[in-house]
Amino acid sequence: MKRIKALFIIVAMAALPSYSAIPATKAEKEKMDKFVSELISRMTLDEKIGQLNLPPGEDIQTGDAIRSNLGSLVASGKAGGTFNVKGASKVLELQKLAVEKTRLGIPLLIGMDVVHGYETVFPIPFALSASWDIPAIENSARIAAKEASAAGINWTFSPMVDISREPRWGRMAEGAGEDPYLGSRIAEAMVRGYQGDRLKGNDEIMACVKHFALYGAPDAGRDYNTVDMSRVRMYNDYLAPYKAASDAGAGSFMSSFNLVDYVPATANKWLLTDLLRDQWGFKGFVVTDYGSINEMKSHGMGDSPENSVRTLKAGTDMDMSSDAFISNLADAVGKGIVSEAEIDKALRRVLEAKYMLGLFDNPYKYNDIGREKSDIYSEANRKAARDLAAETFVLLRNEGKILPIEKKGKIALIGPLANTSANMCGTWSVAADFPKYKTLLQGFRDAVGDKAEIRYAKGSNVYSDKDIEAAGSVFGRDIRDPRSEEELLDEAVAVAKEADVIVAAMGETSESTGEAACRTDLTIPDTQRRLLEALIATGKPLVLINFSGRPTVMTWESENIPAIMNVWFAGSEGADAIADVVFGEKNPSGKLTATMPRNVGQIPIHYNHMRTGRPATSESFQKFRSNYIDSGITPLYPFGFGLSYTDFTYGKIELDSDRLSSGGEINASVTVTNSGDRTGDEIVQFYISDPAASLARPVKELKYFERISLKPGESRKITFPITAENLKFYNSDLEFVAEPGLFRVMAGPDSERLSSAEFTLVE
Ligand code: NOJ
Repeated sequence: MKRIKALFIIVAMAALPSYSAIPATKAEKEKMDKFVSELISRMTLDEKIGQLNLPPGEDIQTGDAIRSNLGSLVASGKAGGTFNVKGASKVLELQKLAVEKTRLGIPLLIGMDVVHGYETVFPIPFALSASWDIPAIENSARIAAKEASAAGINWTFSPMVDISREPRWGRMAEGAGEDPYLGSRIAEAMVRGYQGDRLKGNDEIMACVKHFALYGAPDAGRDYNTVDMSRVRMYNDYLAPYKAASDAGAGSFMSSFNLVDYVPATANKWLLTDLLRDQWGFKGFVVTDYGSINEMKSHGMGDSPENSVRTLKAGTDMDMSSDAFISNLADAVGKGIVSEAEIDKALRRVLEAKYMLGLFDNPYKYNDIGREKSDIYSEANRKAARDLAAETFVLLRNEGKILPIEKKGKIALIGPLANTSANMCGTWSVAADFPKYKTLLQGFRDAVGDKAEIRYAKGSNVYSDKDIEAAGSVFGRDIRDPRSEEELLDEAVAVAKEADVIVAAMGETSESTGEAACRTDLTIPDTQRRLLEALIATGKPLVLINFSGRPTVMTWESENIPAIMNVWFAGSEGADAIADVVFGEKNPSGKLTATMPRNVGQIPIHYNHMRTGRPATSESFQKFRSNYIDSGITPLYPFGFGLSYTDFTYGKIELDSDRLSSGGEINASVTVTNSGDRTGDEIVQFYISDPAASLARPVKELKYFERISLKPGESRKITFPITAENLKFYNSDLEFVAEPGLFRVMAGPDSERLSSAEFTLVE
């Protein structure tokens, strides 16, 4: 204890005035190595294995954990950290146990699923991606880190960077959608936001990139299910955001629950060592997902002792909630199956994380109890969340310019999601304080003041089937109404008939998306559809505000409702943000980051699909063509789509040269004009297609975008500087290459309305 405390002091003095951080120089790296080596040399085998154990806190549970008393585990040196413990004083107690009661006083990692904000809740990550606003997304992670660290958290299980083309999968809500380029820009921005300036400050926390890898492609869209794909697809379409996050310096990775090449990711040596560490050069530590070593048995991979050994040897360093490492590794070392050097390798990475967090300088670096009151849910943080939320809404239709609504007369606000603050935040709102947040009804009333009257009726439950509704209403979010469907409907129709305009707040509940919240039917549920039909029958102007954590199937709605806006789950400030846009204080600018299908049968549908040898040339059925007998093949709304209250006109794309040399650069430009009558933001998109290559390539791929703001009448020329880097892909030998030949570059407001130009890459 004394010796280790002396070490703390030495490092603290040497690192003054700030804490040690992610090493930036060789000397700093050597200093860290020396410190960690000395520490390891003092540790017993049991102390070492204790550091590799991550038991859960008791506040939030997301699976079956082997439960033992957390406090006694910590005090006896059997935990390297814990997670999802809420509240600065609880965390402090645990940290004190680790520092004061264990022989070496090694501080704990304190993790939490701070996925889209802490108490100031930002929109769900899928919504954030629809803003395409990289600096604002980075800032959301920065704010999340500030608030979480004020509550004692030093490690967040975010960003979740799983690419997904599977809207049945509830966890699409947690990621950035279907595109690897956009996903990569967001992944690195979030790492920067959380980790700040190399983790120096006490408001900078370690990121944990998850779920490595390919978790977003489960068979049948069912959570925890099998994933299988070719290496070429994996490298070209799924891996980029994980790599971008690693390149951005993320301190840790979490392995995924699924199989990769038929081996659970958690024990997959190719994935965790050959790819992540040897090919990508990742230097941090890898933690399992919740209980996933134990789950290997259910995957059909034998018992805990052998799975613990496999997992460690594959390159996993920390065991979350399986109790497998502490139960089995000492024995395995005793039997000579695992060497102490292998334990030390994992241990070193865990201790390095603690060193980089500055916990050896000051184990209470993140335990400034006073900050919990001043730094959380501040006015400034809430404003940032409200502004960003408004940027995430995607206006899908606005026939007759019903939106924005004027603040006058009688406005009917109807629907099961109109008056529930618990359903504003979306999945993983672990530190949310629902009573503090407004319902949409409150947001609307505050927005209109005495200029208009907002009349509310619930109109329906979320589902007619109470069991389905209950499955999507966990964690205290139950909003089931005991009244009969008829009673609810009649009340709503009466309110609607009196109104000048109707706003319907519908869709899915917060917990109908997220972990273990998969759906086979992605339409707006039955009873809400019945309500919509009744509202349409009133003949009043109708706006549908759709809450969802995934692409919803809204084919019928798009044919029958003039105005539709997707608001996802917009966070703690969501109600005000929706009101800002509905009443025209702000102009919607979000664009879809996942394709919206016409029906579930089209899934997986995504814009960057491969070509087929027998392409369909029409939406009508053609025999011996790649299509369906009973549905068209185009999406309802394409990737990148979203309207504004103003209009943007695009010129034709122009290239300053039609020849690109391998070391050179050419510019593709497009001029965008705000041809409407309001200031608005537009997301200008550039795609590239490689029509003839050594292997089949997607029809197009997003390669560049800019989010710009234009006043009415204003034009701006947006330029995409193209180099050979933008043309690279992984070939059959998994080499990242740009092949000389013809390419097409396209620009436009979404992935379909594009003008194109051609150029040749010359050797
Ligand atoms: C399981 C989830 O898959 C993961 O995303 C989360 O970080 C852990 N539980 C911890 O809560």
